[in-house]
Amino acid sequence: MTGGTILVTGAAGGLQGQTGRHVSELLLSQGARVRAFVRKLDERAERLRSLGADVVVGDFLDYKSVERAVEGVSTVYFAYPVQEGLLEATAIMADAARKAGVRRLIDIVMLISAPDAPTPRMRENYLSERIFEWAGIGAAHVRATVFYENVLALTSATIARDGAVYLPWGSDETIVPLVSAQDVASVAVGALTSPSVTPGSSYPVIGEVLALRDIIAIFKRVLGRDVRYQEIPDKAWADAALGLGFNEHAVEHLSKLWQSIRTQTRRFAVTDTIRDLGGAKPQTFEAFVRGHQSAFTVKAAGDA
Ligand SMILES: NC(=O)c1ccc[n+]([C@@H]2O[C@H](COP(=O)([O-])OP(=O)(O)OC[C@H]3O[C@@H](n4cnc5c(N)ncnc54)[C@H](OP(=O)(O)O)[C@@H]3O)[C@@H](O)[C@H]2O)c1
Repeated sequence: MTGGTILVTGAAGGLQGQTGRHVSELLLSQGARVRAFVRKLDERAERLRSLGADVVVGDFLDYKSVERAVEGVSTVYFAYPVQEGLLEATAIMADAARKAGVRRLIDIVMLISAPDAPTPRMRENYLSERIFEWAGIGAAHVRATVFYENVLALTSATIARDGAVYLPWGSDETIVPLVSAQDVASVAVGALTSPSVTPGSSYPVIGEVLALRDIIAIFKRVLGRDVRYQEIPDKAWADAALGLGFNEHAVEHLSKLWQSIRTQTRRFAVTDTIRDLGGAKPQTFEAFVRGHQSAFTVKAAGDA
């Protein structure tokens, strides 16, 4: 443990992997002092409070609220969702955390973070990492691949309705590196608390590497129904994703990511980080689907 209070942003958990919620709950279960940064007071915030968190309301893009949130904090978990504003949010947090004397900041970014990365969000991630390093606040980076939760969000409704997965992922031999958000959160908790983490380090997180045909086979096996893959054009996918409520920034990022995934020659492998920093074996995609089977059924009117 580094000691001191840990500020967890995105603590309520949103539409992606809810890593901030998992990180908060894991830290609280280990007896750490957690300050949970939430956008509004609702039942999610109330739950965090009941678990022992000090809940603070704020906005990543409101300097004063971030300044208040980092006061007296030694460590920060920074999880800015895939939406516009990452670099402004980074600059605000970097400046406020530096003034507050923060000694460690763990951010969550994409697996590939480089100036020539294939998506605009990944290139922003690269700059965000550098800004945090220049701030001298002990920044280190958790670099995660595509979340299982993301695959669920992209496939569950059409599997329920048509027994089909519509994606622009090329042939069913396309290889996709994946991970559960829970495992990403375990790695982040290890990075937040382990004495061995050095500033500027980065931790790639891959839980399983699957061909698309393996993913389809898992759906068939676990859901006990026929599931087919139908490749669709990029534009049709982007329109459907916007219709599902994905924001434009996320759709642009994911469109470029799918183009890169279906043409890549790079080899991916499961990383040791989940075991070494997270302290557990990676959850398999099959186990994840088993735990979320109800998401793949047609909801009756009035169902939550
Ligand atoms: N999805 C993937 O496959 C994937 C893969 C690799 C890396 N990542 C990284 O994972 C991170 C996403 O983390 P996550 O899964 O924990 O996100 P998430 O589940 O979408 O949660 C986002 C949280 O941020 C809060 N929030 C949004 N805008 C805010 C604002 N302006 N001020 C304060 N709080 C705000 C939301 O609050 P409300 O719900 O109240 O709005 C929510 O609690 C991103 O950095 C992304 O780069 C994602």
